[in-house]
Amino acid sequence: MSRIPLPYNPKVLELFKNPKNLGKMEDATVTAIAGNPACGDMITFYLKINEHEVIEKASFESYGCAANIATSSIVTEMIKGMTLENAWKISWKNVAEAVGGLPSVKFHCGILAVGALKRAIRKYYKNKQLTPNWLHDELSFEEKQALEEEELAKVLSKRMKLEEEK
Ligand code: FES
Repeated sequence: MSRIPLPYNPKVLELFKNPKNLGKMEDATVTAIAGNPACGDMITFYLKINEHEVIEKASFESYGCAANIATSSIVTEMIKGMTLENAWKISWKNVAEAVGGLPSVKFHCGILAVGALKRAIRKYYKNKQLTPNWLHDELSFEEKQALEEEELAKVLSKRMKLEEEK
């Protein structure tokens, strides 16, 4: 681990110190996880969705880094009151901009946050056995990246275990 502090901008640091919508939601309509417990970078998203497919509330739990917490926090703020269709259009780039930019080594943290949101939306429709015309079978960029992160984390943790066993 590097000891040099990352060049986080003040907005990221503020959201990290005082995140909005942090915590489990007991009455969530849907929850979704992105990340991998093995590497400690993990987020859970909770959405409360009403009968008009509008997100009434959103919250998250995160075991990731400052960028992960800041981006998850801002995503939950951005999507409050949005239709699922509009929330689906949010990209990790929108999120990185909303937090005032992220250091490049931290892009994946924002990608994971959006990946968790997209998974939650997909799960909502799967549970309802519905497919709106804007939701395609092909995974979005963020969903693919979240999967890649998870695969990578699995490989790394296996490798670490093998090293320990040597
Ligand atoms: Fe992995 Fe930020 S979530 S370093």
